[in-house]
Amino acid sequence: MSTSGTNHTVTIKDSATGKETVLPVMHGTAGAPVIDIRSLYKDMGLFTYDPGYTATGSCQSKVTYIDGDNGILQYRGYPIEQLAEHSNYMEVCYLLMNGELPNAAQYKTFEHTITNHTMVHDQLVNFFRGFRRDAHPMAILCGVVGALSAFYHDSTDIDDPHHRMVASHRLIAKMPTIAAMAHKYSIGQPFMYPKNNLGYAANFLHMCHAVPAEEYKVNPVVAKALDLIFILHADHEQNAGTSTVRLAGSTGANPFACIAAGCAALWGPSHGGANEEVLKMLTEIGTKDRVPDMVKRAKDPDDPFRLFGFGHRVYKNFDPRAKVIQKAAHDMLEELGLHDPLMEVALELERVALEDEYFIKRRLYPNVDFYSGFMLKAMGFPVPMFTALFAIGRTVGWISQWNELIEDPSQKINRPRQLYNGVIDRNYVPMSQR
Ligand code: CMC
Repeated sequence: MSTSGTNHTVTIKDSATGKETVLPVMHGTAGAPVIDIRSLYKDMGLFTYDPGYTATGSCQSKVTYIDGDNGILQYRGYPIEQLAEHSNYMEVCYLLMNGELPNAAQYKTFEHTITNHTMVHDQLVNFFRGFRRDAHPMAILCGVVGALSAFYHDSTDIDDPHHRMVASHRLIAKMPTIAAMAHKYSIGQPFMYPKNNLGYAANFLHMCHAVPAEEYKVNPVVAKALDLIFILHADHEQNAGTSTVRLAGSTGANPFACIAAGCAALWGPSHGGANEEVLKMLTEIGTKDRVPDMVKRAKDPDDPFRLFGFGHRVYKNFDPRAKVIQKAAHDMLEELGLHDPLMEVALELERVALEDEYFIKRRLYPNVDFYSGFMLKAMGFPVPMFTALFAIGRTVGWISQWNELIEDPSQKINRPRQLYNGVIDRNYVPMSQR
């Protein structure tokens, strides 16, 4: 392969066949340019090979930009640090969905719309009764979010922009309600209905922590901290969960089914499930003096164990979300007068790992999941709820990317190819002769 000067093409020559083709290089507004290989198979009879999509752009997008080397994350061009400091989750939702920050009237209407979609169809309650009490909240989320398709037929026509908008609003609004119901179910308490006089994060806290028998006042410090967590998790370009939503969406599946698919992908410990694993890991370490042993294990090539909350496919210097959340976790614990001994273990783990040649060489830094667990724990959430909280924040990103996909005329059904390495051309052998 040779790049031909600066004229934005790449020439590919197949030494076996002598065939040659010139491929255009596309430049976005920022980030690495991409080679447009769409004609490669037609012209050369070649596919590309990139397991894990380490160098593959699957779409064009205007939603979120990440510069992994410089630790930059922007939603619609706005730096995450500015949004974390000055904005709130509802405004960020509007921004991600519509491309621009709302004016006062647009904000009011949007917030009103989301607030008024928070209740779920009463028959949906029957689904919860079918789960075991100890079901993981993400298992419930995968099932119940998918089941929304069976309840909201008036918003499943993906070719109708109004249907798409209503489904988007419903998903953002109902995700906290479903997650809170999963929590209540697991602890054997009655479901709490949403309260329309509360903000998005405060309402979720109320649905999770209030009981009908007494008044519950949401702590504004906690509500603000949770709102921040939702902002930081709102979108992250073409990560595994979002790519799953897009892949499902490319088949024409309805938005509720697509977001259920996103929940399933997010659940994995390499992705959103890492926040749960971080707390389990820190609890297992227990005290600062045991940190070196864990780091040793993480470095051992014969041990599959990895330090959860460390490393990222894209961020290779620091995760900007981790910086914001580390400070927020510290501030929140201080404001609430809480002391979590695991915080000391975390700080020590971070210190030891960041000074270790193995982590330095591989450019492994704490990611967003490393510190979010402390905040969620201090807010009274059990560890299995952590990934469900991630899913709530990420729903707006999923739905914004899904809408972008549906409106993109260049998108086709996502159908990767393969390098086949199996047996070919065998004749069937009857069982009696095997
Ligand atoms: N602990 C120890 N070693 C690690 C870690 C880790 N957390 N992460 C990567 N490595 C090593 C890995 O073994 C490999 O070493 P070598 O070159 O000797 O084979 C090298 O670093 C490169 O790793 P990779 O697996 O090729 O990197 P990746 O881009 O495929 O994986 C990752 C990225 C996030 C899945 C991975 O770093 C990881 O498993 N981290 C722990 C789980 C985690 O915290 N996930 C949350 C990610 S942020 C939230 C989200 O987006 O969901």
